[in-house]
Amino acid sequence: MKPLLTVSGLKTHFFTDEGVVRSVDGVSFIVSEGETIGIVGESGSGKSVTALSIMNLLPYKKGKIVEGDIMFQDQSLVGLKPKEMRAIRGNDIAMIFQEPMTSLNPGYTIGDQISEAIRLHKKVRRKEARKRSVDLLTEVGIPNAERMVDEYPHKLSGGMRQRVMIAMALACDPKLLIADEPTTALDVTIQAQILELIQKLKNDSNTSILMITHDLAVVSEVCDRVIVMYAGRVVEEASVKEIFESPSHPYTKGLIDSIPSIDVEVEWLKTIKGNVPIPSQMPTGCKFSPRCQYAMERCTKEEPELTRFESGQKSRCFLAKEVKDETTIIRSQELEVALSD
Ligand SMILES: Nc1ncnc2c1ncn2[C@@H]1O[C@H](COP(=O)(O)OP(=O)(O)O)[C@@H](O)[C@H]1O
Ligand code: SF4
Ligand SMILES: [Mg+2]
Repeated sequence: MKPLLTVSGLKTHFFTDEGVVRSVDGVSFIVSEGETIGIVGESGSGKSVTALSIMNLLPYKKGKIVEGDIMFQDQSLVGLKPKEMRAIRGNDIAMIFQEPMTSLNPGYTIGDQISEAIRLHKKVRRKEARKRSVDLLTEVGIPNAERMVDEYPHKLSGGMRQRVMIAMALACDPKLLIADEPTTALDVTIQAQILELIQKLKNDSNTSILMITHDLAVVSEVCDRVIVMYAGRVVEEASVKEIFESPSHPYTKGLIDSIPSIDVEVEWLKTIKGNVPIPSQMPTGCKFSPRCQYAMERCTKEEPELTRFESGQKSRCFLAKEVKDETTIIRSQELEVALSD
């Protein structure tokens, strides 16, 4: 598969009165054409800042990409002029956010807003844009699209508004759709419907999707591959199957154990103790060590590298032992024991 988006060694820092916040600290991954990649991790792990870095939407002067590159096809997105980035945003890359109301303008009808998104990038007449808006609303499952196109956003429910946002994002047939917690603000039934819609989009088009979520269950529904982030770093990368069947990082294992089970009558939620470290109090060594039940002395002193298994799975943990060369590792006995309970 051809790479569409290549993020390499990305470091995005914020310059605040309290000091430098290293929100994203050396993140690399690839999204290939037609692929759906999940980025998971608890709140504060750097997922949204990664997305905003890609979209060039970091707060002016405060947030900066200090190292690394973001390539979209053959073009670097880092350092693009606002005008150059506007041509890509919405056209080649579109993004949907957690709270659709903040991205919809309450003063315009949804039809006007979708039409504007279309006319910003494509030279079409107003009438044609309106027709396309109705088609898009129908496509994302809005009933009576002919009538709804003239409604204002506040008349719609949260789930319907998120559908409108998806319709807007799809207006120009983007090559990459970034969805940052698109279902988090919605109730469970609506969440399932939106995921179904994203699944349909994935099946019907060749759009690549970067699905950002704190919820591994969402990942299992729609993603091909998963990147697990912790404290601004990638700690594991694997196929969805590998993540659930043989996670290679204690943090991933903790996330999986935190998914509530419906099979067991009384299920005690096993959650990972402690919190994501705040940037000003980053532990030395492995950033997960204060919360890791397998932490060894070495873990508090040295930070493990993200290392690749023979299968392609990657893990940032000392329990994965180097055997072949610097980039290929297999599971060590200790890791098997640690992760099998
Ligand atoms: N505008 C900002 N100024 C300072 N720090 C920020 C800003 N935005 C995000 N951060 C910090 O960056 C870290 C990662 O945040 P974020 O990417 O939003 O996490 P996630 O999306 O994974 O929940 C957090 O520690 C957060 O406090
Ligand atoms: S390197 Fe050590 S502390 Fe970090 S996840 Fe692995 S075992 Fe736990
Ligand atoms: Mg976020």
